[in-house]
Amino acid sequence: MIEELLPPGVTSSEAFDDAAPAVLFAAEAAVMEGRREGRRRQFATARACARRCLAQLRRRPVAVLPGAGGAPGWPAGVVGSITHCEGYRAAVAAPASVAAAVGIDAEPAGPLPAGVLGLIASEAERAHLAALAVADPSLPWERVFFSAKEAAYKAWYPATGIWLGFRDASLALSPAGTFAVTMRPPVPVPVDPVYEGRWLAGGGLVLTAVVRPPGR
Ligand SMILES: CC(C)(COP(=O)(O)OP(=O)(O)OC[C@H]1O[C@@H](n2cnc3c(N)ncnc32)[C@H](O)[C@@H]1OP(=O)(O)O)[C@@H](O)C(=O)NCCC(=O)NCCS
Repeated sequence: MIEELLPPGVTSSEAFDDAAPAVLFAAEAAVMEGRREGRRRQFATARACARRCLAQLRRRPVAVLPGAGGAPGWPAGVVGSITHCEGYRAAVAAPASVAAAVGIDAEPAGPLPAGVLGLIASEAERAHLAALAVADPSLPWERVFFSAKEAAYKAWYPATGIWLGFRDASLALSPAGTFAVTMRPPVPVPVDPVYEGRWLAGGGLVLTAVVRPPGR
């Protein structure tokens, strides 16, 4: 599914469960020591996805370790992103010559838990989502909103090292399957603040992907 959101040259791999055996590097296994079984399996399946992406890029398999702020560490010259949610795991990766940054996110389709939207969306964003829901009530707009901001954050963070809350970014969503997230960091950063992406909803999931072209 995620490949539908990606331009040529960006590789992807996904899984809908943890059934396939996934072998971890020792350093990865060490990171997961003491973690609950479900988290270990999710982490391992995502690493298998990451290594399939690297193989498609003709890169050798390496450990993909959580680094600063939790961002996954990719080999030099590669950018990538990982997501997992109930019933879905995925990784994407691209050579730096194809993308300056990527971020992906998956969420179960459906409304956010009661009260969450009020905490994470501005008044203008809530009005925007309400208008989209009137035009097409069948789509889980709140989840697309949430997921799009998380995907943009995953592209933003490795370049800046700056944590941003949901209220520190604003989102414009198009029913045509695109979106733009504008970051408002607390300090000026020499990075284009607008992250453009694509979304889809299907199979009980919402998927989002941000791919920033090189040089931006
Ligand atoms: C980091 C965060 C985005 C992860 O999203 P999530 O829906 O909880 O979890 P997902 O399964 O989709 O993604 C988890 C993966 O994201 C990646 N990730 C974690 N922190 C990251 C970061 N700072 N930058 C980039 N990628 C990160 C990791 O690869 C992680 O998987 P792993 O632990 O197996 O390596 C989320 O927990 C968070 O902190 N959000 C707050 C910040 C935010 O989204 N702001 C929005 C406004 S811009």
